[in-house]
Amino acid sequence: MNRMLFWLTPLFLSAHLTNAQAPEPVFNYDEAKVGTYKLPNPLTSNTGKPVKTRADWENRRAELIQLFAENVYGQTPKQTIKLRFQTTAVDSSALNGLAIRKMVSIFFVDYPQVPSIDVLLYLPKSKKVAPVFLGLNFCGNHCVTTEADIPLSTRWMISGAVGEAAVNNRNGEPRATEKFRGMQARRWPIEMIIKRGYALATAYYGDIEPDHPQGWRSGIRSVLGDTTKADNWGAIGAWGWGMSRILDYLQTEPRIDSKRVITIGHSRIGKAAVWAGAQDDRFAAVISNESGEGGAALSRRWYGETVERINTSFPHWFCGRYKTYNKNVANLPVDQHELLALIAPRPLYVASANDDQWSDPKGEFLGAVNAEPVYRLYGKTGLGTATFPALNQSVGQTVRYHDRTGKHDVTDYDWEQYLRFADELVR
Ligand code: GCU
Repeated sequence: MNRMLFWLTPLFLSAHLTNAQAPEPVFNYDEAKVGTYKLPNPLTSNTGKPVKTRADWENRRAELIQLFAENVYGQTPKQTIKLRFQTTAVDSSALNGLAIRKMVSIFFVDYPQVPSIDVLLYLPKSKKVAPVFLGLNFCGNHCVTTEADIPLSTRWMISGAVGEAAVNNRNGEPRATEKFRGMQARRWPIEMIIKRGYALATAYYGDIEPDHPQGWRSGIRSVLGDTTKADNWGAIGAWGWGMSRILDYLQTEPRIDSKRVITIGHSRIGKAAVWAGAQDDRFAAVISNESGEGGAALSRRWYGETVERINTSFPHWFCGRYKTYNKNVANLPVDQHELLALIAPRPLYVASANDDQWSDPKGEFLGAVNAEPVYRLYGKTGLGTATFPALNQSVGQTVRYHDRTGKHDVTDYDWEQYLRFADELVR
């Protein structure tokens, strides 16, 4: 629950306090009270036709992406943006000689006012060409490692998520301090990843859009999209788009196997990773770590976070139209199992943690279960089970799932499962 309180934004509080009549939002944690709900069928087209073949599914897939864009995440701008990749530093003997470390900035040539995405890339020296995990981070590249020569990000910095480490600059905007260095290194076991023969690419999500309601004004959404539209893209769409731009860069990196780029994301960044993977099939596999509401968890299941709550606390994450479902989730033309189905036939990992009931582990599991028919269409077994597994047990085939003990986090246990998943399925 702490996590829930933690993220009560001032915006949410003031809206809440000024309306004395508004009932207290109720969050359900009682399985007996979940009630019944009817999920939309991914294999029924918009006009009611059954989807029987892979070719039918390809059309249905396009329909579903459109439905998610119109109703949930907003439209991802289609135009090709001119990018310039600039390598700013190379260390050919990083991590005690295990890795080559590169820093590469992605600039938007026609939009010099939009900040670059600054990529931190570790390549295993043991391989000429390596598959790569690509994930955005929450508090700057300097957070994912204790290495002293990674420059501190000078961008807007989320302060709540990382305690008191951010200090305000002259304009009263939070910025990173040295206290941030390595703060989330535990979540990024770079040595373990490198020793297993994988590269790691990461960038700060705030490079793409600072995570607050006005953040779009200084990110990519200030120049792309249309703020007057109910289906204009939200921050999650922008973060997902940014992952695809990093993939554009990785495709030019000779030491990267660009056919084996695995996108990974935790929590809100997990929501973005799944949406990115759904739209961009250059991602070979997708990993959702506790992405919860608006990620892998079913929206119609009344448990933990709700659509109404996420739209209230984080009004900038989704498109405007998503808010019209706050009080009638049953009218959403899609549910999140269909988002997961958009990854098919590619490998997908959905992970939960049992002290993270806010993300609704069972709802995430059921999201994966209900993506099964689409994997079957490709002759693949997805999860292959509808029985919720015991704690710390990874189940499934092309789709995998585990419910880890512990809190909302990314742990070595999670990474061990992801590495095994990648070894077995992303070949
Ligand atoms: C909040 C939010 C979740 C989100 C999480 C996070 O708890 O309600 O939807 O996943 O923050 O990103 O850590």
